[in-house]
Amino acid sequence: MTFTFNATTALVTGASSGIGYALAAGLAARGVNLIITARRKDRLEALAEQLGEQVTVVPIAADLSSQSGVDDLLKAMQNLSVTVDVLVNCAGLAPHGKFLETTDLDQQALVQLNVLTPTRLIRHFLPNMQSRGFGRILNVCSIAGFHAVPGMAQYGATKAYLLSLTEALSEEIKGSGVAISALCPGVTRTDSVIQAAVEALPDALVLDPDVVAEAGLEALAKGEVVCIPGRLNQAAVTAAQFQPRWLIRSFGGLLAKFGS
Ligand SMILES: NC(=O)c1ccc[n+]([C@@H]2O[C@H](COP(=O)([O-])OP(=O)(O)OC[C@H]3O[C@@H](n4cnc5c(N)ncnc54)[C@H](OP(=O)(O)O)[C@@H]3O)[C@@H](O)[C@H]2O)c1
Repeated sequence: MTFTFNATTALVTGASSGIGYALAAGLAARGVNLIITARRKDRLEALAEQLGEQVTVVPIAADLSSQSGVDDLLKAMQNLSVTVDVLVNCAGLAPHGKFLETTDLDQQALVQLNVLTPTRLIRHFLPNMQSRGFGRILNVCSIAGFHAVPGMAQYGATKAYLLSLTEALSEEIKGSGVAISALCPGVTRTDSVIQAAVEALPDALVLDPDVVAEAGLEALAKGEVVCIPGRLNQAAVTAAQFQPRWLIRSFGGLLAKFGS
């Protein structure tokens, strides 16, 4: 059943820029009150002011690459005593580089931010949604979650985790009135992509964050489990699924070698 957004409340992580910013704006345009979070307080406050005429917006600055940062967010939300109807897990990092060239600490922070934080937030908010028989969860994954990504090995692995978790949970909660969706963008014009690499790609392969966000919110409303914005991205993912895994990872290895 299509979700009724109006007068619901959403928590959006990673709302200070890019896709998360566009998702927050898209939700506000649908009448959804917002709790927005990320590290950059000034950006959150500016967004809260911008969207504040449409809906209620509460900014909460938190570093979600540590368990204590997630504790801080949940504590601040407890003081608000709001009920979260929509959870959007968008905060994420996409570092480039070979696995052994990144530090142990950076690797742990990436797993915390891209894997453990969304998992914990789902674990925290899903039971209440289920007991009310009402709610939506949108996990921002990536087309990188469908196959190995040499040169961004850990990033691809984190997105594969989130995609798999989303698909499995969608079956576990079927019929409960709650739905969970994986938004899997391809290359999107945001701060987290290398600008030179984006410029080298054909325009048709690079989407704007608001286009990606709209596709995600439509999927969320319909309870669609996997959403890949853009026809070319859909075609690429479908074509890759019919190839042997060794071929896809070797192709990725070549791209990483010539791209570095
Ligand atoms: N752009 C693409 O091509 C693309 C493709 C597929 C998937 N994605 C996914 O889309 C999501 C959003 O990325 P984006 O492309 O929109 O990039 P972005 O503009 O850099 O946004 C990343 C968001 O995550 C937040 N964030 C980063 N580290 C954080 C931390 N330690 N604690 C809390 N928040 C943190 C950032 O806020 P602060 O810096 O203020 O903390 C920002 O709001 C990510 O999950 C990414 O993997 C992007």
